[in-house]
Amino acid sequence: MHWTSILALAGSVAAGSCPRAFLESLTSQYLAAQTAGDPSLFPSLAPNATFIENDVTLAGASHAVLTQPLVIDHNRSVHDTVQCAAFSELIVTNPKNPYVIHTRLLVSNATRHVAVVDSVVTRPGDWAFNATGYLYWDALENWAIGPYEKVATDRAALQAAADAYFNRFDNTSVVIPLGTPCARLEGGAYTGRGNLTANTCDIGGFPDDIKVTTRRYIVDEAAGVVDIFEGFPGLDRSEPTRAVPDSHLFRVVNGSIRYIHTVSHCFNAGCGMNGTLFGKRSGRW
Ligand SMILES: *[C@@H]1O[C@H](CO)[C@@H](O)[C@H](O)[C@H]1NC(C)=O
Ligand SMILES: *[C@@H]1O[C@H](CO)[C@@H](O)[C@H](O)[C@H]1NC(C)=O
Ligand SMILES: *[C@@H]1O[C@H](CO)[C@@H](O)[C@H](O)[C@H]1NC(C)=O
Ligand SMILES: *[C@@H]1O[C@H](CO)[C@@H](O)[C@H](O)[C@H]1NC(C)=O
Ligand SMILES: *[C@@H]1O[C@H](CO)[C@@H](O)[C@H](O)[C@H]1NC(C)=O
Ligand SMILES: *[C@@H]1O[C@H](CO)[C@@H](O)[C@H](O)[C@H]1NC(C)=O
Ligand SMILES: *[C@@H]1O[C@H](CO)[C@@H](O)[C@H](O)[C@H]1NC(C)=O
Ligand SMILES: *[C@@H]1O[C@H](CO)[C@@H](O)[C@H](O)[C@H]1NC(C)=O
Repeated sequence: MHWTSILALAGSVAAGSCPRAFLESLTSQYLAAQTAGDPSLFPSLAPNATFIENDVTLAGASHAVLTQPLVIDHNRSVHDTVQCAAFSELIVTNPKNPYVIHTRLLVSNATRHVAVVDSVVTRPGDWAFNATGYLYWDALENWAIGPYEKVATDRAALQAAADAYFNRFDNTSVVIPLGTPCARLEGGAYTGRGNLTANTCDIGGFPDDIKVTTRRYIVDEAAGVVDIFEGFPGLDRSEPTRAVPDSHLFRVVNGSIRYIHTVSHCFNAGCGMNGTLFGKRSGRW
């Protein structure tokens, strides 16, 4: 057998051995461990797993937010059976210690343990942070799986719709497939709250000079959801050339973006916005 065929076989075996139910058990272990603040409740976690928070690799699980018990008010997980990876969104409104967390769980194809726990962990002082607001607006949304997702398996098209959003940030020729309505929840602020049925994700226009870097995808075609972890330069005005650790979660319906949830970690509390949250620079996004 030619070596490329062997690689193709290895890939298909790995994909085939990563059923949705397996990934669901991982996100459920992750949530149980986070609720208790006890990584031992995550038996599928590799003993040598790498923990990354806001683009910083931690010295080990003991340094991770996973060791803090959190009352999770809402969670949403999606599962990528092709990459053998999963994504979870956690909202914690505890006024003393609120969080909104986006986490990617990457599975080792060799050991089938979770090898990487990569999170954007947001707290007060992060971009537009408002956990109560995040919970409130999320609850008004409908992420239910409709007939389209039951038949749609066009993973590439799903990913392309989300990619177009960031490609537009430095290329004005890109047309983003934004639905009508389309709603964007940033940190806890809804960007078009005036009239939910007429909401648009293009309030104030898009930037044209921002190169969004190091994109990492979780794609769940059965849920019509794509998450992109990336680096977002310019968001933190206090360090404008540094790419902010950021995650954008996209719900795509019938090929068009319906919801976007964003979490962004400011290097310095308030992202250099002097308490104004949204500046004039190219509007909101
Ligand atoms: C996560 O959300 C589901 C409902 O979507 C709920 O049944 C489950 O209890 C939640 N898990 C945790 C740990 O909060
Ligand atoms: C973790 O352990 C596994 C199994 O021994 C090994 O294959 C992998 O390379 C290790 N990963 C790291 C980051 O050390
Ligand atoms: C596991 O295999 C899939 C399919 O080949 C690949 O996309 C993914 O990156 C692999 N996971 C890791 C952690 O290397
Ligand atoms: C956070 O969101 C809640 C719910 O929408 C809202 O009542 C509250 O005023 C917001 N807080 C801030 C600081 O914007
Ligand atoms: C900008 O987007 C257009 C439309 O998708 C594409 O044809 C073009 O190649 C892009 N330009 C660059 C520099 O990527
Ligand atoms: C919301 O906007 C839609 C579309 O422009 C319009 O038909 C509808 O009347 C508006 N609703 C309210 C409450 O303003
Ligand atoms: C999606 O497209 C199908 C087929 O055109 C249509 O029946 C359905 O109403 C659409 N759903 C939404 C939410 O737009
Ligand atoms: C914030 O305040 C500083 C000092 O007054 C000023 O230099 C800077 O331009 C302000 N930034 C924004 C985004 O308003």
